[in-house]
Amino acid sequence: MSNINRRILIIDDDVEVRNAYQKILLPDTNKNTKERELMALLDANHTSQIQSTTEFHLDFASQGQIGFEMVKTAIAQQTPFALAFIDMRMPLGWNGTQTATKIRQIDPHIEIVIVTAYSDASISDIVKQVGMPDKLLFLRKPFEGDEILQLALSLTSKWNKLSYRTRELQNSLQQLDEKNHSLQHEIQLRQEKEQALKKSTQQLEASLLELKKAQNKLVEAEKMAALNTLVAGVAHEINTPVGASLTGISYLHTELENIKKAYDNEELEEQDFYKFLDTSMELTASMQHNLQRTADLVKSFKQVAVDQSHDQLRTFNLSDYLHTILLSLKSTTKKRLEITVNTPDKINITGYPGAFSQLITNLIMNTLMHGYPNSDTLGKVDINLSTDHRRVKLYYRDYGKGIPKEHLNKVFEPFFTTKRQSGGTGLGLHILYNIITQQLEGNVQLSSEINQGMQIFIYFPITLKKKTA
Ligand SMILES: Nc1ncnc2c1ncn2[C@@H]1O[C@H](COP(=O)(O)OP(=O)(O)O)[C@@H](O)[C@H]1O
Ligand SMILES: [Mg+2]
Repeated sequence: MSNINRRILIIDDDVEVRNAYQKILLPDTNKNTKERELMALLDANHTSQIQSTTEFHLDFASQGQIGFEMVKTAIAQQTPFALAFIDMRMPLGWNGTQTATKIRQIDPHIEIVIVTAYSDASISDIVKQVGMPDKLLFLRKPFEGDEILQLALSLTSKWNKLSYRTRELQNSLQQLDEKNHSLQHEIQLRQEKEQALKKSTQQLEASLLELKKAQNKLVEAEKMAALNTLVAGVAHEINTPVGASLTGISYLHTELENIKKAYDNEELEEQDFYKFLDTSMELTASMQHNLQRTADLVKSFKQVAVDQSHDQLRTFNLSDYLHTILLSLKSTTKKRLEITVNTPDKINITGYPGAFSQLITNLIMNTLMHGYPNSDTLGKVDINLSTDHRRVKLYYRDYGKGIPKEHLNKVFEPFFTTKRQSGGTGLGLHILYNIITQQLEGNVQLSSEINQGMQIFIYFPITLKKKTA
């Protein structure tokens, strides 16, 4: 540090004494040897800022009040005194003790030396009055030049060291303050970030909820689509027996007209009448058969449709049910799939028939869409149903294009589809998986190889218990 403060104030009413100070502290020559020795002693192992100069700057006051004013001005101009020599006995105005006390009140840093010829008051009384004994020294008159020089050097050095330490302290306090500030700033930033994170988490949660709702809607839509396929099949299947019955009845009508005409014209022969009776019997039998079939179809389709839309736990013959489902899909699969079914006549189970028909529908639709995308080729499907003492085993396989290895672990994921362009939703196998694992409390294994078709094993309990909601 370059600005070493060597400002000294001398307050003494005796002009001779003031001159003596001047001579001692500001000799005409450059620094004398004695001073250098002293410097070496004082600053031997200390910082350079104190060694840099020992040029004192002296100011003089002939009275306490004047000295006090000079201290005040110096502080105001930020060029404070490091040290004051104050004469004890100054008959006009303040004495040394008063002057020192006043100065101490406005300058807590200044080093003070009170110079006494003899004490009016005891030293301890003076110290008590002036205060800060660590910055107060006493010197007896008459003094030696060396004493003054030594005091001037060591006390101004002390002042500078102290102020240097104070500045250091202030600096580190300031740094601490700054750190504290930046810490607080950081805390605030973090709190803000946390807040923002919380908000976006909430938003994310909200959109996740929306997404789930949308997904549920899509799943419902997909289920309804399966139902539509069934309904379309119903109309088609009923057409044949109803058509046959209509043909039968109009034929019977014509026969009746003919026989009536012959009777009216008295041309009816016994032989013709018997022939008519035979034909009528045949026709009505066939019509009865067709109408019975129509009634059966309507009944079973109705059941399938009801099961699909309001699935309820009930006991039914799974084998019959499978046939009904396949029949209702026949208009879609006819000419495109050859389905081989292997099942015992009777598999009575307690479960959800609607869920079962959804499974079969999804599997067949997938075989048509993905296994045999080319509608010219006749595909092949095997369906085997069997039971052990506890479980139903459903084995389904097709011999179509199969699923590449890298897709195998994705096909049950919602929205995974390789046919988005042609209307795939990627929900079919997802729904199948959920139905099996959740509604039917079973499990499913799917395996496939490219161009080897795909096969799926489904297991579920023969008897399901009603879930207590
Ligand atoms: N029988 C199958 N043969 C070949 N690939 C299939 C078969 N079944 C399903 N996949 C593949 O699994 C994917 C997912 O099927 P799915 O969940 O039913 O969705 P989507 O039929 O709407 O594409 C299909 O896009 C297809 O790549
Ligand atoms: Mg599908």
